[in-house]
Amino acid sequence: MDKISVLISKEAIETRIQEMADKINQDYAGKEVHLVGILKGSVFFVCELAKRLTIPVTMDFMSVSSYGAGTESSGRVKIVMDLAESIKDKHVIIVEDIIDSGNTLNYLMPVLSNRQPASMKLIALLDKPDRRVKEVPIDDVGFVIPDAFVVGYGLDYAQKYRNLPYIGIVEI
Ligand code: IMP
Ligand code: MG
Repeated sequence: MDKISVLISKEAIETRIQEMADKINQDYAGKEVHLVGILKGSVFFVCELAKRLTIPVTMDFMSVSSYGAGTESSGRVKIVMDLAESIKDKHVIIVEDIIDSGNTLNYLMPVLSNRQPASMKLIALLDKPDRRVKEVPIDDVGFVIPDAFVVGYGLDYAQKYRNLPYIGIVEI
């Protein structure tokens, strides 16, 4: 068992997700949003966010890999599982767990905008700006965090700890 210290509590995360949902409810009033969750890391965030949306919502998921089993981005991005539905003419919000190097979303955003959504935004639960290698336009972020490897609330270390209800730092 690795030693994990709490960085962001469950309560703080839920309070912030409510604020992010309130903003979406306002910004998209009178519209429908199509949430695109990036598997697997965003699942907890996308569910907690979706439950707090009062506008009509549809959801889809895709799986992208840029990491091996370690803690460094390989820089090579691959769509492992594509969306089930077309995003053409939909108001898409890409929901990501964390923007780190930026490699994943820098690759993915042009791929998705080529599919002609009515609009496309990107939100992330966490942002680690110190590690950015590629530029990514983020519309809303839950928490800006320091350069540490974090787990929980969907984020893993070698596939473990996704189920932790808080964000913690693994002492590797
Ligand atoms: P990026 O392409 O480097 O921006 O990061 C892409 C993915 O790396 C994220 O969606 C996460 O799945 C994973 N990742 C980046 N930093 C961390 C971390 O601190 N803990 C767990 N996963 C991370
Ligand atoms: Mg991810």
